[in-house]
Amino acid sequence: MKITVLKERVFKIALIAFLLTVLCSIWFYTNCGIQGLMTWHIFYNSLFKGFFAICLVPVLALIPWLIWKNKTTKIISYVFSGIAAFVWIMMFIVINIMNLLGTPASGLDLLTASDPLPVHEVQANDTKTPAMKIGFGSDPHWGASHENADARYQVLDGLASSGNDAVFILGDIAEMGILNDYDRAIADLQTHLSDVPLRIIPGNHDTLVCALPHFKKMFRQKKEPDYYRMDGGNVHILVIRVLWDEHEFNKKQEKWLISQLESIPQEDTVIVLSHCYLYGSGYYDEAAGFNWGDIPAVTEWICPILEKYNVDLVVNGHNHFFEYLENGNTSYSIVGTMGGKLDEDLIYTSPYSLWQNNTDFGWLEATVYTDRIELEFINESGKLLHTETIKTR
Ligand SMILES: [Fe+2]
Repeated sequence: MKITVLKERVFKIALIAFLLTVLCSIWFYTNCGIQGLMTWHIFYNSLFKGFFAICLVPVLALIPWLIWKNKTTKIISYVFSGIAAFVWIMMFIVINIMNLLGTPASGLDLLTASDPLPVHEVQANDTKTPAMKIGFGSDPHWGASHENADARYQVLDGLASSGNDAVFILGDIAEMGILNDYDRAIADLQTHLSDVPLRIIPGNHDTLVCALPHFKKMFRQKKEPDYYRMDGGNVHILVIRVLWDEHEFNKKQEKWLISQLESIPQEDTVIVLSHCYLYGSGYYDEAAGFNWGDIPAVTEWICPILEKYNVDLVVNGHNHFFEYLENGNTSYSIVGTMGGKLDEDLIYTSPYSLWQNNTDFGWLEATVYTDRIELEFINESGKLLHTETIKTR
């Protein structure tokens, strides 16, 4: 290529369009939840790959001009470079404007990542007094077409009236984060659950599409981290970022997790939370075309870390049913039963599964003692479905 070509305006504009589209594509692809969404569904995979392919349009449209330098090929290059840049810049602007225009801060009095856990002081040899009672629910899916709002109200009231010291909701608050399905969520949480210290973590639906900033604006203080540790006495809760699958859990987070687990005495109680289940039975997801159960990249990467350090309890959502599983000294619970449509026809049972229920909505109560955690799986009517006792020493 002659050096004079590089100085021509048509070449410079094509180059600028190419760089702009590449930068926007990188921004989009690295947004939390996009890679998981592409793995989940062939439609989104193809759609987003199509958008990424637009980056090549300015380059391809330049080729005719490089061969035949005339007015027509110049116009073709300008037009296609302009269209490619316009598509990606509009994507960037629209998504960011929608996030900015979303509901402002929820106004809920939420626990922050740096708050101490509200534990009661208990002597080390006292095995009868609870140090903390924690309620867990997940996947309320406000805004979903198949939501069960009545069950969700019952679960919220149950979580509020069970004497919990804190409640954690493990994501999928909204059906579609960017569409601002949060108005009713915030109103319902204010009405039903305003008297209990509450912490809300995001799920994969909350990130749809590129909507994590939207979620953070409503439910987080500024600059709160995406993965963090909360402590109270000898109780430690580690919240990790796993929303769809292993794509949101990177080497940096792995290093952080290991350093936290190494620093916590073995006799203390450690609970790990994330939206996506780490072990889980599953159903055939027609939209995805695969079984939505144990995810090899998750079970082979994250679970061994937790089990090596004898994490006591892991609680997740994502799958819409109750499940209790164990591997080694670590117990796992799935509680995605707060109001999103329950998953039917479970076709896969995890080898670590000890109990499951996909017919009831409800929540989990975990009562932490100095030597154990007592689990109660409760349905939306307050009926006790299942109990477990986890030894923590
Ligand atoms: Fe969900």
